[in-house]
Amino acid sequence: MSEQGSERQKRSEIDRRKFVLHSVGLGAGALTLSRLPKARSRRNQQAAGTPLVVTSHSNETGGEAMRQAWEILDGGGTALDAVERGANVIEVDPEDSSVGYGGLPNENGVIQLDASIMDGRTYNAGAVASLENIKTPSSVARLVMERTDHVILVGIGALEFARSFGFQEEDLHTERSRAAWLRWREEHSDRDDWGPPDHLRNLPSPGPDGRDANRDANSGATGPGTNSGLVDQPLDFHYGTTNVLAVDSNGDISGITTTSGLSWKVNGRIGDSPIIGAGLYVDNDIGAAGATGRGEDVIKSCASFYIVLRMGQGRTPQEACEDACELIVQKYRNVNPNFFPSEKFVAVNKAGEYGAASMGNNRGRPRMTVRNAESLQVHEGTTLYTG
Ligand code: GLY
Repeated sequence: MSEQGSERQKRSEIDRRKFVLHSVGLGAGALTLSRLPKARSRRNQQAAGTPLVVTSHSNETGGEAMRQAWEILDGGGTALDAVERGANVIEVDPEDSSVGYGGLPNENGVIQLDASIMDGRTYNAGAVASLENIKTPSSVARLVMERTDHVILVGIGALEFARSFGFQEEDLHTERSRAAWLRWREEHSDRDDWGPPDHLRNLPSPGPDGRDANRDANSGATGPGTNSGLVDQPLDFHYGTTNVLAVDSNGDISGITTTSGLSWKVNGRIGDSPIIGAGLYVDNDIGAAGATGRGEDVIKSCASFYIVLRMGQGRTPQEACEDACELIVQKYRNVNPNFFPSEKFVAVNKAGEYGAASMGNNRGRPRMTVRNAESLQVHEGTTLYTG
């Protein structure tokens, strides 16, 4: 055999061994997976589902969104229709600077919206990213889910898709959002998003003067007046976003996450909201989770998927949201122990339990609006790590 031939034979022997090893790994995985459906079908028999709908918005618009979403659930409608209705109410609110119409723009003054939707019943998902000129991106995301074999459409493609379904293009700026951007542009330079990521900057700790302290995971989501002062006070970075999660009387679960994303973001930046597993995740046998806050952390930690996974392992929604905060803090511990980002997580499970947790935003406990058969109420979760 030539030297080349023997070399090839050696390589194929190594490849074969690698394959055998890999197959053993796969076999073990397959064994674990094949057990899952049985465990899950037992869960299904236990809980048909307790209807509720929640949003991470706790202001008046959040309350109105939950009232309208509950009407659908109460009338026997689906979780999918309920979350879309709820999200639309928040998206079209001109006073809300974190979502849809009147959202804060990118560095060029252009409002680019991200949204995702997931339907637990059909294990289907859709999303749009960097969508311009359409007030209700979550409805476009729903059409991506239902009318294409894709999950995410971005930019001009998403806009053309929306137009083809009859969505009207509109200027998404309000007087307020435009004035806020003009003011930011006059003042920015050392507070923009160019340069290394936040957690690698040489900050002793997030504090009153720290850049991170200026970023608010709950922007537009914690109460009336949260967005006031956009024009006449020092300008903050805003990660404001909303999640709407619902369980219907059939026990089917759906969720939406929708946002105008980080204010003054680098043109083309996409956050966690349109990324399934990051800003949103739904499992019809378990529950749903959504994220607001610094999307970069949520993407790296696949936080919403992780929360649902933890609930599947027996954690309550509250505990699972706290687990996600813990996961992120642990990851940063070796890199910058003083870095506590500003995420907020909300979750529900099939049994109608709910929870919220946040960290590092120095703005009190995270709130969410909850509507179930008992009441419409603002619930406070827990804050871990205030930095
Ligand atoms: N969580 C919203 C964003 O980072 O864009």
